[in-house]
Amino acid sequence: MTDDVLSELALLRDLGYTHLDLRVSVPLPAVVETAEAVDEDPWIALSAAAHECTRCRLAGTRTNVVFGVGNRNADLMFVGEAPGRDEDLKGEPFVGRAGQLLTDIIKAMKLTRDDVYIANVIKCRPPENRNPEPDELDACRPYIRQQVDLIRPKVIVALGRFGLQSLTGKSYGITAVRGQWLEYNGIKLMPTYHPAYLLRNPAGKKDVWLDMKKVMAELGIAV
Ligand code: URA
Repeated sequence: MTDDVLSELALLRDLGYTHLDLRVSVPLPAVVETAEAVDEDPWIALSAAAHECTRCRLAGTRTNVVFGVGNRNADLMFVGEAPGRDEDLKGEPFVGRAGQLLTDIIKAMKLTRDDVYIANVIKCRPPENRNPEPDELDACRPYIRQQVDLIRPKVIVALGRFGLQSLTGKSYGITAVRGQWLEYNGIKLMPTYHPAYLLRNPAGKKDVWLDMKKVMAELGIAV
């Protein structure tokens, strides 16, 4: 496939064609960010800006930008931390072991990955999966905030402290606030443990299930 075709496919995937499986590096070339494009479909401009982004050092080491996937009209949005190796290679969030656990959680909620929207607060993989630096979180924050503004879900689930802190701009500790309803821009926000934490601490799964039952009740899904 030529670079042009791969770029086109990456853009389509970010726009909701989630069956596309790109395992190669796909640097999107300049996609025109005109006023008309923003008027027609703000997702095009946002996705293009993310794919071209060089706002922080992570641009230099990424394979793919991991923009987000799922239903752009979703009632429920999951916000994670940052891509790991699998996500960086595939260009899709939560596709590794933690992702499989998130998929299981979504299924337990009687939903599918296509019903919800999934994104991270950091769009490019930090080397060796280190924690994101404060300036990287600052640089990337506009993307997740605009994604939330475009989707306007009924509920956001923040997975782990980085998702929670970056979205809200507040220094919440995840253990202190998990399971308690918070608010982001008028949207109900449920903080819970990150699936990667659950892989290391399976005892936390029962707490996450309690939290997800609150989310289901809020969305009118029978438990
Ligand atoms: N952890 C995250 O926070 N996001 C991913 O996409 C994968 C693992």
